[in-house]
Amino acid sequence: MMSTTSMHGMWSSRLAFIFAATGSAVGLGNIWRFPYTAGESGGGAFVLLYLLCVAAIGVPIMIAEVMLGRRGRQSPINTMRALAVRQGAHPAWQLLGWMGILAGLLILSFYSVIAGWTLAYVFRAGSGQFAGIDGPGSEAIFSALTADPERLLAWHSIFMALVVMIVARGVASGLELAARVLMPALFVLLVIMVIYAAQAGDFGAGLGYLFTPDFDALSAHAGDALLNAMGQAFFSLSLGMGAIMIYGSYLSSQASIGTNVAIIAGIDTLVALLAGLAIFPIVFANGLEPSEGPSLIFLTLPVAFGQMPFGALFGVLFFLLLAFAAWTSAISLLEPVVAYLVENKGFSRVRASLLAGVAVWLLGIACLLSLNEWSGFTLFEMGILDLFDYLTANVLLPLGGILIAVFAGWILDEEVSRTELGASNGAWFYPLWRGLIRWVAPLCVILVFLNAIGLI
Ligand code: PHE
Repeated sequence: MMSTTSMHGMWSSRLAFIFAATGSAVGLGNIWRFPYTAGESGGGAFVLLYLLCVAAIGVPIMIAEVMLGRRGRQSPINTMRALAVRQGAHPAWQLLGWMGILAGLLILSFYSVIAGWTLAYVFRAGSGQFAGIDGPGSEAIFSALTADPERLLAWHSIFMALVVMIVARGVASGLELAARVLMPALFVLLVIMVIYAAQAGDFGAGLGYLFTPDFDALSAHAGDALLNAMGQAFFSLSLGMGAIMIYGSYLSSQASIGTNVAIIAGIDTLVALLAGLAIFPIVFANGLEPSEGPSLIFLTLPVAFGQMPFGALFGVLFFLLLAFAAWTSAISLLEPVVAYLVENKGFSRVRASLLAGVAVWLLGIACLLSLNEWSGFTLFEMGILDLFDYLTANVLLPLGGILIAVFAGWILDEEVSRTELGASNGAWFYPLWRGLIRWVAPLCVILVFLNAIGLI
């Protein structure tokens, strides 16, 4: 008999699930990672590929992930094992859950360091340091921060403590109220930044850069740009590592998965595009480089806050709300492993969260040292932080995505997915989803991989 609730708690309503899953999806991935990856991959053509990946791969996989989670009602490891056994398939499907835990720990270790930069910038903005600065001035503030391991460690530790605090209490009761107020506030602030960029920045150049696909620029790094676009879609939608699966396991059996996923993916994509529209006009108006890399928004936005009326106030609010958005994403990165430790090791939530938190904290120290003391240590021309970022988004999450798609499309009984998705016989979306999850999503991921390693 399948359980209709999870031992870890349940969302109080359908809306609570939407807020929580949107909280997971919207974070540094949209506002920090999307603009810098777009800038490194040449702009418009990347954005177009990204949107295609969201629609053809991301949305169907998100539906599958929520569905599997709700069906299993346990941590991703135990959910996958139980669902596989129930279908007469090999219990090794639980490997998907293990891979997800690894990806979650690695992502959170660098995510927390970047969230630390964000917290640090709340104070930089508040103390008026941005007033009247130009590109080089902004660069100096940023390098002073990343060159200082002690400061980075302090902020990383504060952020991880905040994450562990919420996860220890249980996510279903921990963040609900705050997410309802602060997430919409971030959205409003982002819109204000776009309006500011539209009149003070070079809006035409920014718009053209983001939305005029230049496939010649792309062909220079075609494999990379394509892989980056797919990786960004997985990262931004929180897919492929079990975060959305476990959030699905706290969702009531009555809620419509398709509608909810459409809303979550829609908001996530909108926020990324708004972030791009806020940032690139300022990049071009101030002679900054779109291909700056992970520092892009930390170099760009201070220049804007330094020029605009009430810039200090807006700066404080912006970085604070961004840190909050990172917080709601970070807890979803820790939840799968914590649920597993509670289920299989009999730990209390507090003990499980502390243990997982300490592991991430230690890995994070390696990430932050890679920005200064250990900057000479590189693999594939990347430091540890960049390597974790690249490896998780571009490899581990898409691999997890293939497994989810194959399981949901080929292993799980059609009747089960029909029931879970509420598809009566004539429903148009069910055959569409099924075609995407069985063929399009897994094949696209494989083709992108082959393309990236130069085989096609
Ligand atoms: N989607 C989050 C963001 O965009 C990051 C994340 C990735 C969260 C994977 C959970 C799982 O910031």
